[in-house]
Amino acid sequence: MTEAREIREPAGKLGVLVPGMGAVATTLIAGVELIKKGHAVPIGSLTQLGTVRLGKRTDNRVPKIKDFVPLVPMDELVFGGWDAFPDDAYEATAHAGVLDKEHLGAVHDELRAIKPFPAVFDPRYVARIEATHNKQYGSLREAADQVREDIRSFKEEHGLERAVMVNCASTEAYAQPQKAHFDLEEFEKALERSDPSISPAMIYAYAAIQEGVPYANGAPSLAADIPALVDLANERGVPVAGKDFKTGQTLMKTIVAPGLKARMLGLEGWYSTNILGNRDGEVLDDEKSLKSKEVTKLSVLEHILQPDLYPELYEDVSHIVKINYYPPRGDSKEGWDNIDVFGWLGYPMQIKINFLARDSILAAPIVLDLALFLDLAQRASMGGIQEWLSFYFKSPMTLPELYPEHDLFIQQIKLKNTLRAIMGEDLITHLGLDYYE
Ligand SMILES: NC(=O)c1ccc[n+]([C@@H]2O[C@H](COP(=O)([O-])OP(=O)(O)OC[C@H]3O[C@@H](n4cnc5c(N)ncnc54)[C@H](O)[C@@H]3O)[C@@H](O)[C@H]2O)c1
Repeated sequence: MTEAREIREPAGKLGVLVPGMGAVATTLIAGVELIKKGHAVPIGSLTQLGTVRLGKRTDNRVPKIKDFVPLVPMDELVFGGWDAFPDDAYEATAHAGVLDKEHLGAVHDELRAIKPFPAVFDPRYVARIEATHNKQYGSLREAADQVREDIRSFKEEHGLERAVMVNCASTEAYAQPQKAHFDLEEFEKALERSDPSISPAMIYAYAAIQEGVPYANGAPSLAADIPALVDLANERGVPVAGKDFKTGQTLMKTIVAPGLKARMLGLEGWYSTNILGNRDGEVLDDEKSLKSKEVTKLSVLEHILQPDLYPELYEDVSHIVKINYYPPRGDSKEGWDNIDVFGWLGYPMQIKINFLARDSILAAPIVLDLALFLDLAQRASMGGIQEWLSFYFKSPMTLPELYPEHDLFIQQIKLKNTLRAIMGEDLITHLGLDYYE
C-alpha cells in the first residue's frame, strides 16, 4: 500500500472560470444547471459516473470515483468567464445552437445571471472574430493585471476560496515557443513591452497561475505549455494540464490505433477529414488557427504506433488530417476516417469510421472532470504538470524529456492509479497471477 496524501476537504463552493464562453463552455454550464435540477444525467463524465476498482477482484470494492476521492459536488460549482462578445450565458448558449429550446428554457435564469468579463483579445491570434467586448490596456502587463483583478473580484463576489480555470477560447494562430517563453523573467519583461509573441491564451494562463488558480487548456493554442509558465506553476505549486480536449475523431483514433498495434496489424495510411459549421469551425477556417489544430491532431498516431520499434508495421504511415468549415452542420460535426491496414502476409484491408458527432456534447463533460480533478490536485498539494490528466487531451503536457502517452487505455490506467495512489490504495497492475497460486 502507498501512503495516502494529505488532501484538504473541498469545503465551500468552487469557481470555474472559462476564458471563452462559446459552445463548449455554455454546453457545460447549462448542462451542470440542468443536472443540478434533475433534468439530466452527467453522461460522459468519469468523475460523476465512473468507478474505480480497489484491492483484489474478489474484494468487491468498486466505489464511484466521486465517492472515493474528495471531489467538490456539482451543486457547489459557480461559473464565470471572459468573452470577446458581451452576450450573457443564455444568449451565448442560444447562439451556439447545441441545446434545444426545452433545455434552454429550464435554466434560463441561471444562464442569464452569468455575464462574461471583457476579453484580452488580439486579432493577430484569432483573425476570424470581430471582438466587441475587449479590455482596454496600455501594456500586456496591464492586461494580465486586469485578468488577475477579475479573478479576485469573482471570488469575492461569490464568497469563494478556490477557483480553477479551463481555457475554452477560440483556437489561436499556431506559435512555437520563442525567446520570451523560456524563462519567467524574460516572459515578464515581454509583458511589460507588449511583445507580440505573448498571446491572450498565455496571459490568462499566467494570471491564473499567479492567482494560485489551477489551469487547464482545452484549446490547441500555446499557453501554459511554455517553460516560463511551467516554472511559475512549479514555483507556486499550481496544477496545470493541457492541451486540446480529446473529443471526436482523435478520441476514436486513440481507441482504434492501440488495438491495431496490440494485434500487430500494420498501417499504411490514415486519412481523416471533418466538416463542421460552428464558430470553432469558422475560426479554424483561418489557416494560422487551423495549423494549431492540425499539429495536435497529427501528433497522436506516431506516439501510439512507435514506428522506430515496429518498422515493418508502421514505417512511412501516410497520416492526413483535413478540417473544413461547412456552416449547415453547426455544432454537429461529421468526421470520416479511412484506415488502410494490412495483415498476415501483407494482405491489405480497410476500416471506415463515420462519426456523426456533437462537438460540445463530447467536450462539456471533459471540462467538468478537469475542473474537479484540478481542484483535487490543488487540495492534494500536487503542483506543476498533471500528466495523469492526459486522458482528456489530444496533446498531453509532459516533462520535456518524456514522450506523451496517447493510448486512451494507458491514460485511463494512469488516471485511476493516480487516484489510488493519492488515497493510499494498492496500485492495480492487472497481473493476477496470485489468484492461481
Ligand atoms: N468541442 C470540441 O469537441 C473541442 C475539442 C477540442 C478542442 N476544442 C477547443 O475548445 C475551444 C472552444 O470551442 P468552441 O466550440 O466552444 O468554440 P466557440 O467558437 O463556440 O467558442 C469560443 C469562444 O471564445 C471566445 N474568444 C475568442 N478569443 C477570446 C479571447 N481572447 N478571450 C476570451 N474569449 C475569447 C469567442 O468569442 C467564442 O465565444 C476551441 O479552441 C476549440 O478548438 C473543442
